[in-house]
Order: sequence, then structure tokens, then C-alpha cells
Amino acid sequence: MAEHQRISPLADELNAILAPSIAGRLLSDLGTRLYFPKGIIAQSAEAKKLGKTANATIGMAVKGGVPCVLTSLKEQVPNLTAPEIVAYAPTAGNDDLRALWLEAIREKNPTLGSTEISLPVLVPGLTAGISYLSDLFLGTDSVLLTGAPAWDNYVLVVEARRNAILRSFPMFAESGFNLAAFREAVMTEAHTGKVRMLLNFPQNPSGYTPTRAETATIVSVIKEAAETGADVMVWCDDAYFGLDYEDDIDPESLFSRLAGLHERVLAVKIDGPTKEDYVWGLRTGFITFGSKGMNAAQYEALIKKLMGAIRSSVSCAATPSQSLMLKAFKDPRNAAEKLALRKMLEERYRVVRRFIDAHEGHPALRALPFNSGYFMSMKCVGVAAEDLRVKLLHEHGIGTVAIDATHLRVAFSSVDAEKLEPVFETIFKVAAEMVAR
Ligand SMILES: Cc1ncc(COP(=O)(O)O)c(C=O)c1O
Repeated sequence: MAEHQRISPLADELNAILAPSIAGRLLSDLGTRLYFPKGIIAQSAEAKKLGKTANATIGMAVKGGVPCVLTSLKEQVPNLTAPEIVAYAPTAGNDDLRALWLEAIREKNPTLGSTEISLPVLVPGLTAGISYLSDLFLGTDSVLLTGAPAWDNYVLVVEARRNAILRSFPMFAESGFNLAAFREAVMTEAHTGKVRMLLNFPQNPSGYTPTRAETATIVSVIKEAAETGADVMVWCDDAYFGLDYEDDIDPESLFSRLAGLHERVLAVKIDGPTKEDYVWGLRTGFITFGSKGMNAAQYEALIKKLMGAIRSSVSCAATPSQSLMLKAFKDPRNAAEKLALRKMLEERYRVVRRFIDAHEGHPALRALPFNSGYFMSMKCVGVAAEDLRVKLLHEHGIGTVAIDATHLRVAFSSVDAEKLEPVFETIFKVAAEMVAR
């Protein structure tokens, strides 16, 4: 560490609290340096409670105790007050929203029971959450394991941004999750004493979630690695949580199986309303920590580190998104509407499932296992995924994504059910013609 990078006494305080825990042992250099200043934000939060005569702390224009807001803005969101629109949000997010999300996590994951987990911290979208975790826990040469093919943003964050290593294991065996490759990757990493992995179910781009039996084995491999004395950190990217379309899938997050598993396992849940509540552009996500080896003071210290990452990058997430979500979550119409949207997605999945099952043995396209989420992907054999993508787009007006040289992803989530069969018929026909040439 360079001379000018002296550790702040505030970082030292947090490091001392975290030192005996798995989180302390896994922090990156940047994570070790981060702290949440007792500066403007902390002092103004204190003044908000106690500054009854005058609160001269925060950089906002306030009149009669209320932040000033332009009529042009206020008129567009009549149900929100001025503070709910324009006031700065707390660094870790709106307290009520955080409490509500914690309650929702517990409701959706009953296996958690009374397992102690941290309060969720609000971040501006799941991507930001992954990036902050990379700040805190990945240094140059740290390895983060993930299944391949993976969402392309992972490598951008982990390798381009953090200069760490995203190491892939092949996600699929002949059928289903490649448990042998997963075990091999985890146990190899366990020899270094530190295992970090990012698991995303339902997965982007394959649309796969492990079955209950596969999940049980994944959990046992993680435990086995921890029992060798390695610290094992598992980032659960739950972006597509809840969109499981087959009975043999565990409807709970892997996080709920890991949060209380072992002193040497630290699970992190990265989730949010982005896809779960159909609010892609609102940019709200959450980070929640769970480890049998951590206590409340250590969770609090880790949250302060995360707040340091937020404060030093975007400062805080947008207020209107948080205010809108807080109000929307309390609306009794949500449950029925969300169920209807889920059914709509499931119906699209069924159309694709039927088509794929009826067209096995295609000369160029092999569907990867899929059972959940927004997508399905196909392995292209004898034809380049990019060539197929370009032909489909330019000659047939069908947009797909070439994930890499050999995989084509189709987001059935964004195509009306009645269009899906003709779309897949065209994809299969074009690919067959290309490979026959
Ligand atoms: C696997 C996965 N994680 C995270 C995200 C990003 O979520 P957000 O839009 O909240 O950043 C996506 C979005 O495409 C995704 O596919």
C-alpha cells in the first residue's frame, strides 16, 4: 500500500470489528480502506433527529422545513410530497423500505426462520450491488467463480473494472447442472483458503435453476469446502427470483440455505424489485449478508463498509424510485397483478418448452437446460452465433443475442406468446439452412 494510502482511523475501527469474522478475512485492499465518514451525512442524520431550532447541515434549499421543489416536477407525481421527490435519500436507502424488504425476504424464504441476517442495504440496481461487492471483496488476482455461459456484465465488472479474475466452470452436464465441474472448481479454489463465487439462479443467459436435488448437492459442496478450513463466500444474484416454472425447483433463494450453514460461509443476497416487481428502470436493488460466523456488530461494520462504497461513488440512490416503491409495495392490488404477469411469462415459457421438446435433434441448435426466468439459450454447432444473429435480424427482423461465439440467447420474456412459435420456427429454419451450406 502506498504511503499516501494511510488507513483512516474509521476504517481501522471497522477492520478491528470485522477481523475475527469471515468478512474481515475476505476483504480486498479497497474493502479494507473503505469506511463511512462521520462527516456531512452522519452529522446531518443526527441533526435531523435533534436539530429542532435549525438544521443547517445539508446542502439542499429548504423553506419552512420542506425542501423546495419546482411545480413542473411536483405536478407530475401528485401523490409524493416534496421530500419524497427531491430530498437526498439516506446512503443505505430509505429505512422503511429496507425494513419492508427484509420482511419480504423472510416471507419469500421461510427456511431462513430465525437465522440472523443483516438489514438489506439499498443500492441503485443489482448491477451496482455486484460492483460494490467486487469493490469490497475482490482485489487484483482474486478469483470469482461462476458458471459459463454467464451474464456478460460479470466479466466487465470483475475483470475490466476490478482487475480480478472471473473463473468459469461449465454450467451444464449432459442434462442439468454440472455438479462435478462445480465441485472441482470449488474444491480446487478451497486449497487457496479462500473461495468466492457468484451464482445466479434463475440464470442469465440459460434460464436455468438447479433442481431441489442439485441444490442440495451445491449446498453440500459449499459446506465441504468450508469444512476444509477455507472461507467460502457465495454471492447469490437473485435478479430473476420467483420465476420458476417447474415443480422440481426450490422456490427459495440459495441464500436461505447458506446464511446459517457454517461459520466459514458468508452468503450475500443481491436482489431487488428490478425484475421481481417489473421496475427495470427505477434502479433499486438490495444487498443482504448472512453468515453463521457473524454477529450483529459485524454486520453493522460490514454495512458501514458498503455505505463507504456507495458514498464514494453515487453518494446515494435516487429518492423518487424509493418513494414510489415504498408506496407501491403497500398496495393490495400488487399480489394479483404480479401473479398475472408471472402467469404471462410462464405461458411464454411453456410455448418455448413445447417447441424445443418437439424439435430435438436439430443439426445446428442444442437448447441448454432451461426451466425458469426470462431466457433460454441455444448452443450453436457448425454455425457461428453472431452470423446467425445477424441473419435473423437483417433478413427476418428477429432480434436475439449472441452471448459468445457459440451461444444464442432468446428473451422469451419480451415476445408475445402468439409470436414465439413462428419466431422459433424461423430461427430453427435459418440455422438449419446455414449449417447445410
Ligand atoms: C443476472 C443478472 N443480474 C443482475 C441484473 C441487473 O439488474 P439491475 O438492472 O437491477 O442492475 C441483470 C439484468 O439483466 C441480470 O440478468
